[in-house]
Amino acid sequence: MRGIILAGGAGTRLHPITRAVSKQLLPVFDKPMIYYPLSVLMLAGIREILVITTPEEQPMFRRLLGDGAELGLELSYAAQAEPGGIAEAFVLGAGHIGDESCALVLGDNIFHGQGFAETLRACIAGVERGDDGAVLFGYPVRDPQRYGVGVADADGRLVDIEEKPTRPRSNRAITGLYLYDSRVVDIARGLTPSARGELEITDVNRVYLDKGAARLVDLGRGFAWLDTGTHDSLVEASQYVQVLEHRQGVRIACIEEIALDRGWIDADACHALGVAQGKSGYGEYVMAVAEASR
Ligand code: G1P
Repeated sequence: MRGIILAGGAGTRLHPITRAVSKQLLPVFDKPMIYYPLSVLMLAGIREILVITTPEEQPMFRRLLGDGAELGLELSYAAQAEPGGIAEAFVLGAGHIGDESCALVLGDNIFHGQGFAETLRACIAGVERGDDGAVLFGYPVRDPQRYGVGVADADGRLVDIEEKPTRPRSNRAITGLYLYDSRVVDIARGLTPSARGELEITDVNRVYLDKGAARLVDLGRGFAWLDTGTHDSLVEASQYVQVLEHRQGVRIACIEEIALDRGWIDADACHALGVAQGKSGYGEYVMAVAEASR
């Protein structure tokens, strides 16, 4: 399965912070926001990842993440010049996806919870076996009208989906992580742009729903899916990460640690990545993780 991180957009709801800096590069406590969605794909076992940004901001993402080789990844980049919608990622990423299945994660979505990696790997296996064409992840929220909202039957089949409904039929928001089989590129290419001229992800999901091929997996109330879309929610996300990291002494979304755990880099390489960031607590943590693994 190939991965895509969609990190475009103007971030207008966070102005003036995002007037000069991409939203997905803003700090969420101790690391840039994009580390969180990147870590999701890494936990899922995905190493070939396309990062889609605005053309202007691409050099900054390259400076941060490079070609991914030092993490055992293959990162490539594409530019989304205009806000063409989330589903445009599959058109821009067609060459990257090829005949593979694909996981798309939005560059501002933060996921955290016990057993998430196992859940993801099981869902990916379901797509790769052909059991599911699409897998979406639902999360209970207080304000579902701000999101895509899904309804599933008793077997977890998606039976209804609406984008930002005024009267939501459930409180399950569709999170910004989507797994699809290889048909997704053709489906996205065949979409009619919405009234605002964008290729809507909800329209892609509706095509799979109509085929009876979409699954909605509930992430449940013990899980954290955090918003970073407003000034308040950005601070709250940082505080969530800070509280857990201070309490547990571990770091959430530490991409060096995940690469080491997965066996994509060895302890020496991990330690060197820590040394390079050694004046920060984050760098010290990466060094300690490397030492502990020897
Ligand atoms: C997008 C999707 C929406 C989804 C949300 C998750 O909305 O259109 O279905 O629930 O991402 O973050 P946006 O945040 O672009 O308004």
